[in-house]
Amino acid sequence: MFDLIVRQCRLKDSKEEQDIACKDGRIIEVAPSLDATAVKEISANGCLVTPPFIDSHFHMDATLTYGRPRVNQSGTLLEGIALWGELKPHLDFADIQRRARLLCRWAVAKGNLAIRAHIDICEPTLLAVQALLEVREEMRPYLDIQLVAFPQDGYYRYPQAEALLTKALDLGVDVVGGIPHFERTMAEGTRSVKALCEIAAERGLLVDMHCDETDDPHSCHIETLAFETQRLGMQGRVCGSHLTSMHSMDNYYAGKLMALIEEAEVSAVANPLINITIQGRMETYPKRRGLTRVKEMLEQGINVAFGHDCVLDPWYSFGSHDMLEVAHMGLHVGQMTGIDEARSMFDAVTVNAARALQLEDYGLAPGCNADMVILQAADPIEAIRIRANRLFVIRRGEVVASTPEVSSEVRIMGGQSTVAFRNSEINSDST
Ligand code: FE2
Repeated sequence: MFDLIVRQCRLKDSKEEQDIACKDGRIIEVAPSLDATAVKEISANGCLVTPPFIDSHFHMDATLTYGRPRVNQSGTLLEGIALWGELKPHLDFADIQRRARLLCRWAVAKGNLAIRAHIDICEPTLLAVQALLEVREEMRPYLDIQLVAFPQDGYYRYPQAEALLTKALDLGVDVVGGIPHFERTMAEGTRSVKALCEIAAERGLLVDMHCDETDDPHSCHIETLAFETQRLGMQGRVCGSHLTSMHSMDNYYAGKLMALIEEAEVSAVANPLINITIQGRMETYPKRRGLTRVKEMLEQGINVAFGHDCVLDPWYSFGSHDMLEVAHMGLHVGQMTGIDEARSMFDAVTVNAARALQLEDYGLAPGCNADMVILQAADPIEAIRIRANRLFVIRRGEVVASTPEVSSEVRIMGGQSTVAFRNSEINSDST
């Protein structure tokens, strides 16, 4: 007897519908029409079942602070950082946790069951680090939170950042962060990448740096990050986040860089909602898009994942932590409209993100964690197009969120009909 069987699942890479049987929090069997029973059965009714969405880049300490003490009017990265600087001295332990918990509830409702959260360590009491270490533990049954020690004001530029980063790691923060393009000089940025990678190598930790989040084509700290990754034997354990300067670089140099990134097995984490909003703010026309070279990186064989980055915070006044919205924006800004390209945008918020975060037992194969999302869509492209409703979100074999099927009753031309914007309506519609 299984704990749970999800029947009639349409999987991304399988034409035939499958049943997924789970026990003790794991997937045990995946096969068509399983002849077995379970304590609980759910029918996916031929809808797409996917491993959970993953947000590979987020700021949980700042989220849901919209309007405090004011709204970012210019929309620039620098006003966002200044605004965060105004807010930081007034942060409150209970308030950080309350906002983080609400965001986690939003995440679970949207089927996002892993979040990599960069936490600003440039604050003498490490209040946010301590608050979010507790949230990470209390949320563990429901979603995985990886915390990154992120020196927002610069590892060398902020006077106590070196000591505070060490302290944050000692407290149990998972990943080493950085922000080389915000250091005082290019040379200081380079020095910070080297030092931070060495700390991670020594402690056996992963690395994820905000890297070259600028329109300046001369910002190329990703070159050093790839080099240090290789030098220290950290292949597969390092992410370069944002990499927006690569949008503006000379094609020849960008080509060389992409080969180095691929060789070092560094994952590229783009944040389409934020990149399209924040980059290109100094421009008149034409305006650059600012998103890194997603299409070319994928062609190069680089692991590209997407993050939401911000929801209602000093940098971004929008969002509901919907990773399909992120994939949708990435598809448009990156002009990823071919079939394989569009499917790769779904991968950027699922399997590629799992690889970037080095998540274990992720997927829908037997032996994997019994974590999955049933979408009100038939396939990944339709899911992105309609930012599909999450019918069921399952964690370790338990339903942690559900939403009734969403459709609209339309009353026109003397009749009443139902629409849900599905592809299946196109051929079956008789109107
Ligand atoms: Fe960020």
